[in-house]
Amino acid sequence: MYAASLATAEPLTTTPLTRRPQGDFSAACTQRLPGTTADGLVVPTSRGPRDYANLDHAASTPALTVVAEAVERTLRTYASVHRGNGFASRVTSEWYEQAREEVARFIGAREDDLVVFTRTTTDSWNLLARTLPADTTVVVFASEHHSTLLPWGTRTSGATVTLPVPRTVEDGLAWLDSALAESTGAHTLVVVSGASNVTGEVWPVEQIVAVAHRHGARVALDAAQLAPHRAVDLAASGVDYVAFSGHKLYAPYGAGVLAGRADWLDAAEPYLVGGGATARVGQCGITWATGAARHEGGSPNVVGAVALAAACAVLQERRDDLARYEHTLAERLRRGLEQIPGVHTHSLFGAGSDRVGVVAFTIDGLDSSLVSTALSVEHGIGVRDGKFCAHPLVDALLADGDEGTPTTAVRASLGLASRPEHVERLVSAVTELAASGPGLTYTRGPQGWAPESDPRVVDLPRPW
Ligand SMILES: Cc1ncc(COP(=O)(O)O)c(C=O)c1O
Repeated sequence: MYAASLATAEPLTTTPLTRRPQGDFSAACTQRLPGTTADGLVVPTSRGPRDYANLDHAASTPALTVVAEAVERTLRTYASVHRGNGFASRVTSEWYEQAREEVARFIGAREDDLVVFTRTTTDSWNLLARTLPADTTVVVFASEHHSTLLPWGTRTSGATVTLPVPRTVEDGLAWLDSALAESTGAHTLVVVSGASNVTGEVWPVEQIVAVAHRHGARVALDAAQLAPHRAVDLAASGVDYVAFSGHKLYAPYGAGVLAGRADWLDAAEPYLVGGGATARVGQCGITWATGAARHEGGSPNVVGAVALAAACAVLQERRDDLARYEHTLAERLRRGLEQIPGVHTHSLFGAGSDRVGVVAFTIDGLDSSLVSTALSVEHGIGVRDGKFCAHPLVDALLADGDEGTPTTAVRASLGLASRPEHVERLVSAVTELAASGPGLTYTRGPQGWAPESDPRVVDLPRPW
């Protein structure tokens, strides 16, 4: 209805990135994959300018070019959502609800599931924690990201059962089964990640759902690391709730999602009390809205919602191409790192486990933070180091190592801004580091490791 009126606006062009065949990767590189806003970024290093090797997608991704274009289009008519009758407000409100429908398709939502726009996965779980019925027992593995592990303890009623970090799938399922058999709460919720943000391992979600449902428990799936790489289907999998973040899904405009069963969400107090969450406010009381609006108090983040929907549409359409590309890169990354003497990659369930493109590794005798600094300063490679907001998991993984194993790890994570050449560069840089240490002298200060003269300290103008 609005499309015709907007058709006169200048169209924006999309330039899909063409991957150039390089080295062993030619088969994976001949596809045309969606480009990102960060493609072609060149960064200073001690060895001269380098194409930025973005191997940190598990933290945050750049926007897809088509997402940025959708945002730009949204801004032309940007106005209030559900708060005005002007043309721009009507267009904006319509697009906000269409974004919700697109997200619902992306996650295979059931007819009566709610899709609530939040800020992030952390926000989504805090919302769900507040809406659980009284006397709900939550069962969660200690291996979860802190955002998925911690919000349940903040409730005023109900227990939280934290299961140890499992080292086999069979153990994990058996422990879950026993915990659920012993649960005495009126309701039980199992919370689990689809893919680990540390090891990239994909958890057996359908088996977990089967165990949970056998005990009458519901399942909440943290898809923050899964959704960027694999399909999520609520209806087919039986998962009851799902949460994920736009900034990890090529849509870094401040929106996340909590979706799933409507009953608990509709029965709970609004997450944010205020305008938008109300159906009626009178002298004698307040009637809260039902549906997603009940938990979306305040003016909605329509830009974030549209961005997320645009990313969902592209990822859904290109899922197979993306999976092939990432799989080829991930295999090369893992094999490359595993062959370097003194380098250890880490996993929960063993070498053969199914994984997305996330690898945690350590180098004997080298502090992980020094490794990530040297990769950045000398090679133009972006990775993350530390415990990745999953302290119990990283502690368990690194406890396997010998004396002298670092207490933190380095994480390389792949996505659409990663190139085959970036993976090759990482593998050769890590080979160099493991054999002879960093090429520069670094000292540790309050801000972490730094070389004597840091090539990355540049006087960039502010973006505004
Ligand atoms: C598996 C997992 N869950 C939850 C989160 C929290 O996501 P956010 O910071 O977007 O709330 C992360 C972030 O790294 C994650 O990797």
